[in-house]
Amino acid sequence: MDRHSNAPREAQGLPGAGAWPPLAGIGQVAVVSEPDLSPKLVGFDSKDVRSRPFNLLRAQLIKKLTETGARLVGITSPAPNAGKSFVASNLAASLSQLSNKKVYLVDLDLRRASIGEIFGINDTAGVGSFLTESTEALVDVGRQIAKTNLTVYPTRKVDVSSSELMVSSRMDSLLSRARALEPEAIILFDLPPVFANDDAMLVAEKLDGVLVVVEQGVTNKKQLQGALQLLHPTPVLGTILNRFDGGTTDI
Ligand SMILES: Nc1ncnc2c1ncn2[C@@H]1O[C@H](COP(=O)(O)OP(=O)(O)OP(=O)(O)O)[C@@H](O)[C@H]1O
Ligand SMILES: [Mg+2]
Repeated sequence: MDRHSNAPREAQGLPGAGAWPPLAGIGQVAVVSEPDLSPKLVGFDSKDVRSRPFNLLRAQLIKKLTETGARLVGITSPAPNAGKSFVASNLAASLSQLSNKKVYLVDLDLRRASIGEIFGINDTAGVGSFLTESTEALVDVGRQIAKTNLTVYPTRKVDVSSSELMVSSRMDSLLSRARALEPEAIILFDLPPVFANDDAMLVAEKLDGVLVVVEQGVTNKKQLQGALQLLHPTPVLGTILNRFDGGTTDI
């Protein structure tokens, strides 16, 4: 895919978003005008056939959010490498093409930290730095993708116990700021896999719901059942069947 086809709306000559309310609630996040997006980030470009599963998933998710009132949504999977960050990024990009939505994507997988790479953002201290109190303001962490409705909060890998950060007062502060955002905001959290450690469970219970990514031919029924049990009582808003040959959603 060439750089132009997955470029944000600005590059496609489409109108952009207005002033951006940062997750921090004060000030304005920096705007990335020419992000070096991963070629696998197709959700910004509805003309790309590979964006269709994400647009379908987008519609199903919005329906679910409207029904339930959920706004803070985690994306996890039973085991690693199922495609969580890929799905979270493309879903966020797809949602951000809707003019009536404000979308925030927060990387809470502090041990893998892949969202920054997907969006080509490497100049922020990251969410981990905010959680460890090295960075004071969340506004310094976020980056708006120019002329889209998407603001990304990447992280860098942290070398302290990520589980402790998940239940820290800084985390509570981040989540309460997310809850204070405008009603049309959708806040997606890229989470670690459920079986890797207790990070996902610790955060998921503070969110409104989770999407569970299942890797076709790899994730088995027992794994999925085990993950759902561990996530209980967090509402599971849907499962997403991810296939490396194109991706199928099943929410
Ligand atoms: N449907 C897909 N089509 C093409 N590539 C995919 C698809 N799903 C995942 N990938 C690729 O597979 C790799 C693993 O995906 P990703 O990093 O999203 O998984 P993850 O579940 O977030 O992994 P981790 O548990 O390590 O965080 C990445 O290179 C990603 O781009
Ligand atoms: Mg990931």
